[in-house]
Amino acid sequence: MHGFGNDDGQDPKEKINYKATFRLLVGFILPEKRGFAAAFAWLLLSTAFNLLTPLIAKHIIDKAIPAADARQLAFAVGALFMNSLLFLVTNYFLRMRLVKTGQQIMTDLKKRMLAHMLSLDLPFYAEFPVGRLNARVQADTSTLYALFTNTTVNIFRDILMFFVTFGVMFYFSPKLTLMLCSVLPFVLVISTVFLRKSSTLFITVRKLASEISGFLTEHLNAAGLLQAFNRERMTEARLEDINKRKFDAELRAELMMIIFFLSIILVSPISIALILGVGGGWAIQGTMTIGTLIMFILYIDKLFEPIFSISEHVSVIQRSFSAGHRIHKILERRPGIVDPPAPHFIHAIKDGIEFRNVWMRYAEDSPWVLKDVSFKLPKGKSLAIVGETGGGKTTVTNLLFKFYSPDKGKILIDGADLSAISLKSLRTSIGLVQQDIYLFPGTIMQNLKLMDDAIPDAMVHDAIKTVGLEHFFKKHGLNKHITEKGANLSAGEKQVIALARAMVLNQEVLVFDEATSHIDPYTERLINAAMARLLSRRTMIVIAHRLSTIRNADNILLVSEGEIKESGTHAELLARGGVYSKFYKLQFGEEPR
Ligand SMILES: Nc1ncnc2c1ncn2[C@@H]1O[C@H](COP(=O)(O)OP(=O)(O)O)[C@@H](O)[C@H]1O
Ligand SMILES: [Mg+2]
Repeated sequence: MHGFGNDDGQDPKEKINYKATFRLLVGFILPEKRGFAAAFAWLLLSTAFNLLTPLIAKHIIDKAIPAADARQLAFAVGALFMNSLLFLVTNYFLRMRLVKTGQQIMTDLKKRMLAHMLSLDLPFYAEFPVGRLNARVQADTSTLYALFTNTTVNIFRDILMFFVTFGVMFYFSPKLTLMLCSVLPFVLVISTVFLRKSSTLFITVRKLASEISGFLTEHLNAAGLLQAFNRERMTEARLEDINKRKFDAELRAELMMIIFFLSIILVSPISIALILGVGGGWAIQGTMTIGTLIMFILYIDKLFEPIFSISEHVSVIQRSFSAGHRIHKILERRPGIVDPPAPHFIHAIKDGIEFRNVWMRYAEDSPWVLKDVSFKLPKGKSLAIVGETGGGKTTVTNLLFKFYSPDKGKILIDGADLSAISLKSLRTSIGLVQQDIYLFPGTIMQNLKLMDDAIPDAMVHDAIKTVGLEHFFKKHGLNKHITEKGANLSAGEKQVIALARAMVLNQEVLVFDEATSHIDPYTERLINAAMARLLSRRTMIVIAHRLSTIRNADNILLVSEGEIKESGTHAELLARGGVYSKFYKLQFGEEPR
């Protein structure tokens, strides 16, 4: 069973929660129950037409021909044609209905998953890399699509077809029917063995295929790096190795399928020989009619077909359960931080923000990242945080935005505990320029509006004016197209755009986590000028590496190893002659101007 469970890097030992997954799958079917009911109605009709043909043939041979009744013959042949036509038409409606219902379920499922994943917090994205999530959503939904459009209905068709065929055959000749059924266990065994073997191989193939696509994404993204280090050849060799393994597995899987289908093809002539040999003997004795013989021959495939399909259905169901289980695991995941039942809404910040003896670590067994951090940021004032990489600066912003919660201590806004404040109102009041700047493919204008067309252009122009970036955006027109991840912009330009973007929403508090990348002196001056304007009139937290940015801040914290080591204004800290002043001299000693 677990052979089916690990086709997407899932822990093979992980137990599938069948009950929950079943409930999830049924939950997809229920809203579409009318669609499924209609499909079943068409299914019943099409199966009936499918099974009627051999009976009409028997009637022609045993009744119409011996009676030399040309009218009855013509009538029966007409019925045969009509029957085939009706089979086609009902089958068409059945398929259409299933495709529509299946597509509807998939659309709803993808919508639900996207909305859900967007509601999840950073720890979720740390656990599930986006590439894997994407592959997972695509592969698992298509497995479920196969389940909902084919398997659910085909299982019923096969059961129905098998029992009706068996019943009719048994009615006309119990002895011959039982004899033919002795072939069934043999058929069941081959199909189970081969399908099992090949489906394990196909799982390997799928796994290798996703490995190849992951490898390609990773390496094509790093094409420049690979070229710079002359690693193209090595990369090719590694890709070839995975490709070769996929080729081998695929070849073996296909070979299995070929052997399987060839052995299935044999079953039919063997059974026909059996019918004609044994039944023919009875016909000579006069205990069986020719019509019954022909009817048996026409029915034989309909008796075996469902048996061949069973193992395939079982494998689809097993795959669907592992896919459903993975989807369930994502859907049941709740964000670690949710609003309390009666959250506190903040509309306008009156007093300010306070960190009170805050302790934080990212995992129980990892060291403290923030140790007893306390500071106050009064409304309208600016706070700068400086310090070595890994000191805990970004963690402060992670806590303020409720991406994580503190382990000890309190974060207060206007005296209200952050944990009681509505997440939405919090993030409406505080704007963030993150360290890793993400820009969407689209125009600069669209990016400044965070892809929200409802924001009027005037707001964007106001924001640009506030930070004094008119000149920059004259040079880089607002209609300039940004390629994926902002690849056609320099690091500094991206920072400027991100800064302007955060200004557009005109939030009360702005948090600016500066990227480490070096930027040219021109852009640096641009950002410094924009910052200087903001620092004097806004409530702001600036995390900076270039100390030139934050000289004007009302208060500066020097954070090292999760602790506030020094705090004060630029002048105070310089006068103190501590770490900050060393830092400062180091920077400006190296970059004199
Ligand atoms: N999501 C995370 N999970 C686990 N550890 C983290 C995470 N983010 C940061 N850390 C760790 O916490 C420490 C502080 O990180 P951070 O606040 O990003 O530092 P800074 O912004 O000052 O460079 C570092 O040791 C870092 O490795
Ligand atoms: Mg950081």
